[in-house]
Amino acid sequence: MTPVGSIGAKAVTTVEGLGETPVGKAVQAAWMHLDVPQCGYCQAGQMMAASGLLRSTPKPSDAEIDDAMRGNFCRCATYTRIRAAIKTAAGIDASDNREV
Ligand code: FES
Repeated sequence: MTPVGSIGAKAVTTVEGLGETPVGKAVQAAWMHLDVPQCGYCQAGQMMAASGLLRSTPKPSDAEIDDAMRGNFCRCATYTRIRAAIKTAAGIDASDNREV
C-alpha cells in the first residue's frame, strides 16, 4: 500500500491507464492471449505488479518474477499462467510455463 500523501507531484498510473503505457499494453495483450484470469479478483494487482517488474527489469528471470510477484496472491492459483504471461510480455519464450 502506498499512502496518497507520500506520492507528492509524481505521476500515477492506475490499472485503468495501464494500456496507455507500452509495457502495460504488452502485459494486457499477454494476459488476454494466455487467458490468464479465472475469477479475475486478483488480476488488476497482478497486472500492475507485472508491469512494475517489466519496467524495472525488462527481461526478468524466473527468480526475479517470483520475487516481484510474491505479495500478490491468487486464490484461483493462476500462477503458471501469470508467469507465462509476464514472459510473453517480455518477449521471453514461455513454452516451459504453459499448462498442459
Ligand atoms: S483469478 Fe481468481 S483470485 Fe486470481
